[in-house]
Amino acid sequence: MAEHPAYPVGLRLTGRRVVVLGAGQVAQRRLPALIAAGADILLVSPEATPSVEAMADAGEITWEKRPYAEGDLANAWYALIATSDPEANTAASTEAERNQVFCVRSDDADQATAWTPATGHSEGVTVAVLTTDARGRDPRHTAAIRDAVVAGLRDGTLVAPHHRTRTPGVALVGGGPGDPDLITVRGRRLLAEADVVITDHLGPRDLLAELSPNVEVIDAAKLPYGRFMAQEAINNALIEHAKQGKSVVRLKGGDPFVYGRGMEEVQALAEAGVPCTVVPGISSSISVPGAAGIPVTHRGVAHEFTVVSGHIAPDDERSLVDWPALARLTGTLVILMGVGTIGKVAETLIAHGKSPDTPVAVVQEGTTAGQRRVDATLATVAETVRTQEVKAPSVIVIGEVVDVGPKRHA
Ligand SMILES: C[S@@+](CC[C@H](N)C(=O)[O-])C[C@H]1O[C@@H](n2cnc3c(N)ncnc32)[C@H](O)[C@@H]1O
Repeated sequence: MAEHPAYPVGLRLTGRRVVVLGAGQVAQRRLPALIAAGADILLVSPEATPSVEAMADAGEITWEKRPYAEGDLANAWYALIATSDPEANTAASTEAERNQVFCVRSDDADQATAWTPATGHSEGVTVAVLTTDARGRDPRHTAAIRDAVVAGLRDGTLVAPHHRTRTPGVALVGGGPGDPDLITVRGRRLLAEADVVITDHLGPRDLLAELSPNVEVIDAAKLPYGRFMAQEAINNALIEHAKQGKSVVRLKGGDPFVYGRGMEEVQALAEAGVPCTVVPGISSSISVPGAAGIPVTHRGVAHEFTVVSGHIAPDDERSLVDWPALARLTGTLVILMGVGTIGKVAETLIAHGKSPDTPVAVVQEGTTAGQRRVDATLATVAETVRTQEVKAPSVIVIGEVVDVGPKRHA
């Protein structure tokens, strides 16, 4: 008999009885998706893997601890036959055939009346991949196709524009510390779908090169030294483009709400009635030390870490930071935007009791090709930054955690 291709369909199983026979690795792999589909699951099996047991304990499935018996499929809409007993599997699929219940069989795809596709999800879409006939079944190949499609949708390399659900507005996207691989999958997808991207000089600038030529890229660089575009002008640009019905991405370094003025933009957009969504990003305050081999906390060494802006010196009357209190903390201090003020900061911390020998590391352009780490102590850091010509953007880490990583070679 000529083999016809399988007919793909999405079963809506909410509240409908699904019978699962056997509770080994196959059932363990398939059960979460059946639970997620809201199925009323009856599991029949004398034993179960610990993780299937946990699903029964949590009340996600009903487990009858016994072998398959004729009649188990009586009220089923769908069955998964996966016991280790071939005779039970055959008997159960005979019952399924008689009752006109579609069933998958883990031991014999030829005898099954349904096949489970390799599935994956990305932002409201389920990708399901099936081979066309039982003889050509190659589960690794279908899984690899599924992986490629899902990964492409997630990272934006496979661009499928939304025609019905896409709403114009602004996405405030945290781009991570600089390495283009360190943006979130959601951020990358929104970037790939954008009409307009408004960027800073920080963050994953390499990603801009991947944008299609019809995407308008606007540089809102707020350079620490030199020219800068006023925040108001950025807000206006976001609002104007969004009001023209375009999808706008505001791409920021790190996380939008860590010294990113993200909330000012959210407020301006709200006042203008422009819809806005925020996509968190990996902040340089944690990831840049990590990329240089420094954990911001370490058991037995630092039980807290404090992120501080160094852009205003401690003796400046505009400073909101309680430096004497910071000097008393035993944990890690992470200073952003502190290259220009590190001398005064170190002096102040020492004056309020921090040991001059406290280890300090300065990590410049972390996670990028230009990353470098310079080590010092609180007493020497200002001089080291000057002689080594350390520049922004840099993260300064002060505390014993600086020395806990494996010794470096250079
Ligand atoms: C205006 S703040 C923005 C912080 C950002 N929102 C975040 O969460 O990482 C800019 C400062 O972040 C730090 N920074 C950001 N990216 C960095 C990187 N790749 N390497 C070193 N420091 C970085 C520097 O201290 C820089 O002066």
